[in-house]
Amino acid sequence: KELSQEIDSFVAESQEQLEAYRLRFIGRKNVIADLFSEMKNVPNEEKKAFGQAVNDLKNQAKDKFQSLIDSLSSQSGGDEKHPDLTLPPISTEFGSIHPLTATRNRFIQIFERIGFNVSNGPEIEDDWHNFTALNFPENHPAREMQDTFFIEKNPDIALRTHTSSVQIRVMENEKPPIRTLSPGRVFRNEAISARAHCVFHQMEGLYIDKGVSFADLKQTLYHFVKEMFDRDTQIRFRPSYFPFTEPSAEIDISCQICHGDGCNICKHTGWVEIGGSGMVDPNVLENCGIDSKEYSGFAFGMGIERITMLRYGIKDLRLFTENDVRFLKQFNSL
Ligand code: PHE
Repeated sequence: KELSQEIDSFVAESQEQLEAYRLRFIGRKNVIADLFSEMKNVPNEEKKAFGQAVNDLKNQAKDKFQSLIDSLSSQSGGDEKHPDLTLPPISTEFGSIHPLTATRNRFIQIFERIGFNVSNGPEIEDDWHNFTALNFPENHPAREMQDTFFIEKNPDIALRTHTSSVQIRVMENEKPPIRTLSPGRVFRNEAISARAHCVFHQMEGLYIDKGVSFADLKQTLYHFVKEMFDRDTQIRFRPSYFPFTEPSAEIDISCQICHGDGCNICKHTGWVEIGGSGMVDPNVLENCGIDSKEYSGFAFGMGIERITMLRYGIKDLRLFTENDVRFLKQFNSL
């Protein structure tokens, strides 16, 4: 009876106490086993009851032992009253900056230092801001359904196909000098592949002032690629056509992946296209109420995805939107 009470009230707060319990009640030479060896001294008529009682005691000791183990293991690491101060802290998982955000931020940083601000506009645009004010001829193929996601027809409302629409809004509302960057999402009805997506990001730039020339455009973009990539990056302009610029030029840079040695990204030419540019067409200035005899300007537009792929050697554009942590975690240090 005494032993039964002792077992009942036993508390083990440490491994040592648990071991003491085990030695006393469970181990090879435990006190209950001693009772069994008393059996021979018990009068015959009491043997049955005695044996039953000792057996009960043995089971009680076993059950208690298990519950002591359970409560001790649930306590390791501490509880509210007894915190375990030796445990390592629970680590916090930090998110990381998305590589597209990092590139956009770097873009803005480079251009802010030469006097550009940042302007934003709506992703759902009317025909005027996305096309007409930008001097798109009435039947220009870019207005057709295959490129543009229209929301409404007559009057046309669409998802913007470029952020040039934001530049129109800035020119309508501000007086030159204007130096602005328009970053943002744009939408084109294109099949999704490693190189193209129907939703991507653009960074467009606009500079309007007295006496702005193509030399300013060239030097500004040359400065930009040296800052965004490295000092040895080369730049090349190819004649091109956009309705809103005249003259227009495609911008190529020396391939950042193979550094001119030839790879799939530059198709072994050593050059990759990063965007379009040109001198703002006088018609566009006039559409926005800016006197084209007094002012001139340049504009450029680049895909943020393309720049990011070149910066980090990313070969598939779809990785940007899959949100696979194995991809995103590689940018933890940004
Ligand atoms: N808006 C053009 C496009 O989306 C890029 C561009 C901007 C070209 C400014 C010239 C000048 O393709």
